[in-house]
Amino acid sequence: MHIHAAISDLRSALKGRGRVVFVPTMGNLHAGHISLMTQARAHGDTVVASIFVNRLQFGPNEDFDKYPRTFQADCEQLAAAGVDVLFAPTEVDLYPEPQTYFVEPPGIQNILDGEFRPGHFRGVATVVSKLFNCVQPDAAVFGKKDYQQLMVIRNMTRQMALPIDIIGGETVRAEDGLALSSRNGYLSASERAEAPRLYQLLNTIRNAVLAGETDLPKLENAAIAALTEAGWKTDYVAVRQQSDLSAPTRANVPLVVLAASRLGNTRLIDNIEI
Ligand code: PAF
Repeated sequence: MHIHAAISDLRSALKGRGRVVFVPTMGNLHAGHISLMTQARAHGDTVVASIFVNRLQFGPNEDFDKYPRTFQADCEQLAAAGVDVLFAPTEVDLYPEPQTYFVEPPGIQNILDGEFRPGHFRGVATVVSKLFNCVQPDAAVFGKKDYQQLMVIRNMTRQMALPIDIIGGETVRAEDGLALSSRNGYLSASERAEAPRLYQLLNTIRNAVLAGETDLPKLENAAIAALTEAGWKTDYVAVRQQSDLSAPTRANVPLVVLAASRLGNTRLIDNIEI
């Protein structure tokens, strides 16, 4: 695996590499990321991963400084997964001058996670468009675990007519159902034992909707109450249309149930398509 920090080195290394498939990450890799690398391999000739902890997408009270940096272990996992090229820019490589031009997503950046993380999706869209310009991939893989992020990137790519296929990668779960996430490492042993409740409640909602329940606020409120009872602090549990994450206005549209809730100091997000 070749590792490049400078944009110019990366671009030279990718000349004549055939169809390039890109998987951006912030490092601290787990089996969920590695599954995205494996999926990427099936879509092209050269798999490029990036590791960059993007300051722009963290709020002032979020975990930018304490976000785990595990570069050596990450490189070993990427190499073992057959990744061809790793782009690992420093902040100076990617932001050599203060970033004053931004990609501003529309209303979708203010709902669900965006309501609780102001500026987050603007930071994501800005860095991803910059990473796309550095790598110039033919396709890129983003995990469905960050469902709203995947939608923001899909919409941006379509509206900006970027010649990049966006591929959604399935969420990888622990045996007890907890979605793999870099933030799971912040959980204490007792919190880790409690954490699968989020996925269980999403499944309860999914099953109820599939069984014909149409009172979505009732289902959402019951899940929030169950989480509160178990000591969680919930930002949202919401059944939304897959197409644009708005509240469903008619029957028989594909739905997704999404949630964000805090266990101790750790904010977990998850979703399942219905
Ligand atoms: O999902 C992530 O790890 C990040 O949001 C991304 C897409 C790498 C942008 O920093």
